Amino acid sequence: MRARPWLFEEYPELEGRIPWTSLGEFPTPVHRLEGLCRSEGLCEVWIKRDDRSSSHYGGNKVRKLEFTLADAKRRGNRYVLTFGGLGSNHCLATTIHSRRLGLRSILVLHPQPITPHVRRNLLLDVKFGAEVHLARNPMERALIVAWIKLTRRGVYTLPLGGSSPLGALGFVDAGLELARQVESGELPEPKEIYLALGTGGTLAGLLVGLRLAGLNSRLIGVRVPPERVGNAKKVEDLAN
Ligand SMILES: Cc1ncc(COP(=O)(O)O)c(C=O)c1O
Repeated sequence: MRARPWLFEEYPELEGRIPWTSLGEFPTPVHRLEGLCRSEGLCEVWIKRDDRSSSHYGGNKVRKLEFTLADAKRRGNRYVLTFGGLGSNHCLATTIHSRRLGLRSILVLHPQPITPHVRRNLLLDVKFGAEVHLARNPMERALIVAWIKLTRRGVYTLPLGGSSPLGALGFVDAGLELARQVESGELPEPKEIYLALGTGGTLAGLLVGLRLAGLNSRLIGVRVPPERVGNAKKVEDLAN
């Protein structure tokens, strides 16, 4: 289990300068998907189990939150304001991990079709102490955010998906982690890596981390939200 990010192992001068706190269990394991390879006639498919990144609430948000929530704490904030759809995994992860650090999440959520998963996440947001606001359109959202910032002190704002440049550092670290796993022979160097593209922080960070570690794997983002939310320009801006 890592006691500090691989980033600080590789670049010790960053430790203390960049905020970070441990929230997850890393490295996450890598598995070869034998059955899928056989049934689809593919040569080799591997999966990196970031769903196992935390026993509190895993998934791809934990790596970002290790940097961003540490920043919120370091700046002396009490609240973390963030955004997403009604059933947002990012909002739930932020709520659960913020609470572990003594921060309270404030969620400004936009409507989405109510499925059992959406209902479950929303109920968990409330159970873990989030303050929840519904914004039905951009104007309403702007007004709610203005009101929150006027009436509270110590509000740290985390963008949609947690994809700030600081959040993306979590996936720079994931790239360094994967490179170590390749180096130690746990898996071969991937020719291609497929991942979901939401707000871009995951892809941008991973790209930088892999290149820093000297891996040339091609990254393919499979876009989930509309293009105005996740796009190449956004990834490029975050990676730079
Ligand atoms: C498992 C998983 N991978 C990747 C992503 C995309 O992350 P990002 O918003 O950083 O592009 C998401 C976003 O929801 C996700 O849930």
